[in-house]
Amino acid sequence: MTAQIELSDVNKHYGAYHALKNIDLAIRKGSFTALVGPSGCGKSTLLRSLAGLESISTGTLKIAGEVMNRVPPRKRDVAMVFQSYALYPHMTVEQNLTYSLRIRGTPKAEAKKAAEEVAATTGLSHLLGRYPRELSGGQRQRVAMSRAIIRHPKAFLFDEPLSNLDAALRVHMRKEIRALHDRLGATSVYVTHDQIEAMTMADHVVVMRAGVIEQQGRPLDLYDKPVNKFVAGFIGSPAMNFIPASGGVDGHSLILELSGRQHVATGVPIAPGKKVTLGLRPEHVTIVPRGEGIIEVPVAIVESTGSTTYLTTATLPELVVVLNGRAHISSGDVVGLDFASSQIHLFDADTERRL
Ligand SMILES: Nc1ncnc2c1ncn2[C@@H]1O[C@H](COP(=O)(O)OP(=O)(O)OP(=O)(O)O)[C@@H](O)[C@H]1O
Ligand SMILES: [Mg+2]
Repeated sequence: MTAQIELSDVNKHYGAYHALKNIDLAIRKGSFTALVGPSGCGKSTLLRSLAGLESISTGTLKIAGEVMNRVPPRKRDVAMVFQSYALYPHMTVEQNLTYSLRIRGTPKAEAKKAAEEVAATTGLSHLLGRYPRELSGGQRQRVAMSRAIIRHPKAFLFDEPLSNLDAALRVHMRKEIRALHDRLGATSVYVTHDQIEAMTMADHVVVMRAGVIEQQGRPLDLYDKPVNKFVAGFIGSPAMNFIPASGGVDGHSLILELSGRQHVATGVPIAPGKKVTLGLRPEHVTIVPRGEGIIEVPVAIVESTGSTTYLTTATLPELVVVLNGRAHISSGDVVGLDFASSQIHLFDADTERRL
């Protein structure tokens, strides 16, 4: 399968600041790729480099097999969709949609027909005569997407397109964008700082930190096998619990530094004395009666949404446990925690790499 977009050893400097570091990334034709990471990690810089709104300092960027390093934005044949929508306020929806065609010399009737076709796909047919100020946030977002679609670009580039919408509409629009992507057979690159958005929408997730790609792969592969503590803590909600630990003398147990030293048999082979961090996802811990679990902990906080209960322990570090449904547990109770050794993640305490 050929890559629609390919970056090889790409670096970007803003003056002395090194914003993208040795980026290697192949974006498959027809794929939905999410770029995710904390604020300032370089997501927008990477996306804007694809669009040509930033020039890369070194390395090679190819789109559909052609080197794009020096090609201006309008000749790259990619379309950006921004958080701010960037609609023309004095133009109707139809005029917003046809503008890019008209400036390229497309005859009026042909542009109108194209706008009607796109509007039918995105559910805007009845709104073509309205102005942006007469639309809801979700409808404006749809106009912004339609304006990208009408050009039949080689790729769609989204930069946090849903962050101005309320929670319910955001969840709805995620599905709508993904369905549209599938229907058009598009190639999409989608920037978000929301890992749930990345996990649910994308088939390829790229996790960035401080200008570096920390890990990339299928969403559940990142969840199951994070390569380091950073990715482990970033992917998954609530976040993975981390407990400092070291290897026991028998070579297959752990001593947890959890409100004092606790020896636990984990069945995981580990060198005696080796300093590690134990990672345990909140959803992989079960509550058992006192005396029956691997460890015993006092409960500090119990929160229930009805469908899910979250427990926070009164330990150092504190642990979060997620349970389905309701739990008959109160703050101050002491409970046993159990977990399968197959669901333990171990990281080197110094390098933070997965062991
Ligand atoms: N024009 C610029 N000149 C200098 N530094 C810049 C410039 N644009 C961005 N940066 C820096 O590069 C880094 C990456 O910025 P970028 O906008 O790509 O982050 P981001 O991952 O999109 O963050 P956010 O989630 O907050 O949008 C930041 O530290 C930022 O301050
Ligand atoms: Mg950004």
